[in-house]
Amino acid sequence: MKAVILAGGTGTRLRPLTNYLNKHMLPVGKYPMILYSIRKLKEAGITDIELVTGRTSAGLFTEFLGSGRDEGVSLTYRIQEEAGGIAEALKLAESFVGSEKFVMLLGDNLFEEPLTAHIEAFRKQENGAMVLLKQVPDPHRYGVPDFDHTSKTIVAITEKPAVPQSNYCVTGIYMYDSSVFSFIDQIKPSGRGELEITDVNNAYASRGLLHYRTLTGWWTDAGTFDSLHEAASRLREEDTE
Ligand code: G1P
Repeated sequence: MKAVILAGGTGTRLRPLTNYLNKHMLPVGKYPMILYSIRKLKEAGITDIELVTGRTSAGLFTEFLGSGRDEGVSLTYRIQEEAGGIAEALKLAESFVGSEKFVMLLGDNLFEEPLTAHIEAFRKQENGAMVLLKQVPDPHRYGVPDFDHTSKTIVAITEKPAVPQSNYCVTGIYMYDSSVFSFIDQIKPSGRGELEITDVNNAYASRGLLHYRTLTGWWTDAGTFDSLHEAASRLREEDTE
């Protein structure tokens, strides 16, 4: 299986740090953030990876990661010319992915457990998509799912709801079949002018094709100073264990 890591965006919540450096190159513990996603994929046996990032930071990634050889993976790169949303960035990976099922990670998501079992479950799933969920104290910051418990699918996801229906959030760990690209073609930009991944996931959900599993280990998106700090201390603890 192949994987796509999204490492673009403007990192507004981490300014002024991100005025100078792409968020995914910020240090988390001993390493730049981007290395953790690559290593999680490698740990799960995925070594064919495409990295999508913005024009101004692409050079940093190629300089630091090169072909991926030092990490035991094979990297290719795609450039998203302007920040147009997660779904727009994913669309750029269409020719890389082809017609196979694949994994997509948001490069600012840091987490504890291996992806191996989740990917294996997705492999066995006939078609559709799978998202990984996590119980969090602040679901209003994320996409929040509404469940059909009988079929173990998600009926709909609400992006950053004022009043969350549950304390589960949709993490930035997604698994798709190749129909994701035609769903991206069908969605329209949101109020903030971006193609939203939640709209793509809802296209699967409305067809009964959005499955989920839940992360049990720690998880954080390192998009704010607080969560970046949390990720760094979690990873430091692991490193000294
Ligand atoms: C994005 C998704 C959101 C998801 C989150 C996970 O939000 O839109 O549904 O819960 O990633 O990190 P963003 O970080 O772009 O606000």
